Amino acid sequence: MSAAPPARLFFALWPDARVRGELARSARALQARCGGRALRAANMHLTLVFVGDVAPVRLPALCEAAAGVAGGPVELLVDRAVYWPHNRIAWAGPAQTPAPLAALVAALEAALAGAGFRFDRRPYVPHVTLVRNARCRGAPALERPVAWRAEEFVLAQSVRSEEGAAYAVAGRWPLAAARDPA
Ligand code: 2AM
Repeated sequence: MSAAPPARLFFALWPDARVRGELARSARALQARCGGRALRAANMHLTLVFVGDVAPVRLPALCEAAAGVAGGPVELLVDRAVYWPHNRIAWAGPAQTPAPLAALVAALEAALAGAGFRFDRRPYVPHVTLVRNARCRGAPALERPVAWRAEEFVLAQSVRSEEGAAYAVAGRWPLAAARDPA
């Protein structure tokens, strides 16, 4: 009997419906300028750590590592749009990486490394991909800034279909505000 196939996994912040809708509107505006394919609202996310292929048997250990990560809510102001010619994506992200976001990524990376997982270690650039296969001439502009408060992070699975990648949430963990000492 063959082992179950690996799952392509990543940790991410997943915006609520309002933020997803605003990002999708910005994606359509960018697509009108740059061509390419605007991501659907349902797919809007900000990757924290890309883990890649994980054997199903390792999933409990991955979730256990994530559960040990402590972090507070992340307040993001998505206020800039950038085009990367090397992979032809146009994306939106915060001009300033908030300290709680950097701390969350560092804590997740430490927990994953401690549990023996390998992951993408390229320098972290927080971004929400809005348009793929874009060809922007000049710097793209964001239609309007989007304020977003994330109170949880998720483990997402990328599932390829004929319509492109779709994502399924495989786990979620709260980012609880530190409580005042009683
Ligand atoms: P991208 O939008 O810039 O392509 C699922 O593929 C998510 O993981 C996407 O947000 C993707 O970013 C991100 N990601 C980060 N590193 C990746 C890698 N090495 N391969 C594929 N996706 C990666």
